[in-house]
Amino acid sequence: MAAAGSAVGLGNIWGFPTQAASNGGAAFLIVYLILAFVLAYPALMAELVLGRHAHANAVTALKGTSSNPLLRNLGATAGIVGFIVASLILSFYAIVAGWMIAHCLASLAALVGATDLAEWLVGFSLTRNVIFMTLFMGMTIAIISAGVRDGIERWSSRLMPLLLLTLFALVVYVLTLDGASEGLRVYLMPDFESALSPQLIIKALGSAFFSLSLGVGTMLIYGSYISDKENLPVAGGLVTAVDIGIAVLAGFLVLPAMYVALNNGVEIFAADGALLSEDTLIFTVLPELFSNMGLAGGMVSLTFFFLMSIAALTSSISMLEVPVAYTIENHGVKRLRAVMVIGALIAMVSLIILLNFGTLFGAIIALTTRYSQPLLGFVFCIYVGWIWHRDAVLTELKKGAPDIAEGLFWKIWPWHLRLVCPAIILLIFVQSLR
Ligand code: PHE
Repeated sequence: MAAAGSAVGLGNIWGFPTQAASNGGAAFLIVYLILAFVLAYPALMAELVLGRHAHANAVTALKGTSSNPLLRNLGATAGIVGFIVASLILSFYAIVAGWMIAHCLASLAALVGATDLAEWLVGFSLTRNVIFMTLFMGMTIAIISAGVRDGIERWSSRLMPLLLLTLFALVVYVLTLDGASEGLRVYLMPDFESALSPQLIIKALGSAFFSLSLGVGTMLIYGSYISDKENLPVAGGLVTAVDIGIAVLAGFLVLPAMYVALNNGVEIFAADGALLSEDTLIFTVLPELFSNMGLAGGMVSLTFFFLMSIAALTSSISMLEVPVAYTIENHGVKRLRAVMVIGALIAMVSLIILLNFGTLFGAIIALTTRYSQPLLGFVFCIYVGWIWHRDAVLTELKKGAPDIAEGLFWKIWPWHLRLVCPAIILLIFVQSLR
């Protein structure tokens, strides 16, 4: 449940649908689905298995796979890069999550008649962005330092079905509106030429790794909390299915809603056909959709943005836990101190991004999600596939799944992880650099 909480977040409702909308709809959807199951799921398994075995953070875990000093050091370095990337992801994540909270409060303000306040809350201003980024970081820091993560996750696992239900209802509603069918067409009718573009493929790869929280050590840490009784391939498969399922469902909401908004006269596309703004697309089209609903719209908007803020929070705590766990476990720093210092540093980076939004926001997202996460995933595949002893991998997997050695998963996965995953990730990178 915690791993699903980490996976389900802004990546599903803000990340994937926006990327799909700006990269040819169905073409992106297809590539994303293929990469999620062919690359991301096996890579998730690598992190979970190694994490449960090592009972430690990524730095220690990667180091422990070998007795060769060079490989140990390289592994530790990859773990440290992972925690820097996790921190950088949090720095932009807190900004977008802040927008979710602002929209949640705006719905509340509108419901009680405070129209001016509501308008300010949904407007894109530096002051608002700084306030809500800080608020969100403060909440993340408070949860991690009080050690009440478990409570939050238990709570959010009850709210998640509600998010799913809200999404379903919204999809059904949007599909009844004028213009929605055009969005549906874009989302489902692939144009195979763009599906083969290297840029699209690498964006879809980054999107899948981001959505499943891969490469940065988050899932590895969560693996270290999983009990030995648990069947890992099944648990990992469930997390993948839920996460990808919610992203795909969100696409059925956002793309049709985009064309409904267009139909209502909202400007979505620039003259060259590109999106006016990818970053804030859903914050334009969803409020437009809610305003279509009349009186009920306010409540729906409140519910939706509230649930999204919680979903973002269960992801952000899993990000902050990565550098914090490492600093506590490997450097003996006290929890509160580690959380405060690291949290404050990340908030500073967020502030720098906000002050240079036009240049930094997109660049940090591309650097972390599109390039770093898949490359770190590559390192995990190599370490679990080649460097860690095969017998140790099998013993670890067997714990919750005694007959795994006879099953299909064991026949395919180790070789897939050794050969197919690294080869495809490299190929995608080489292609995208040409
Ligand atoms: N998977 C999260 C989401 O979809 C983002 C995330 C990335 C969380 C990396 C942890 C680590 O929102």
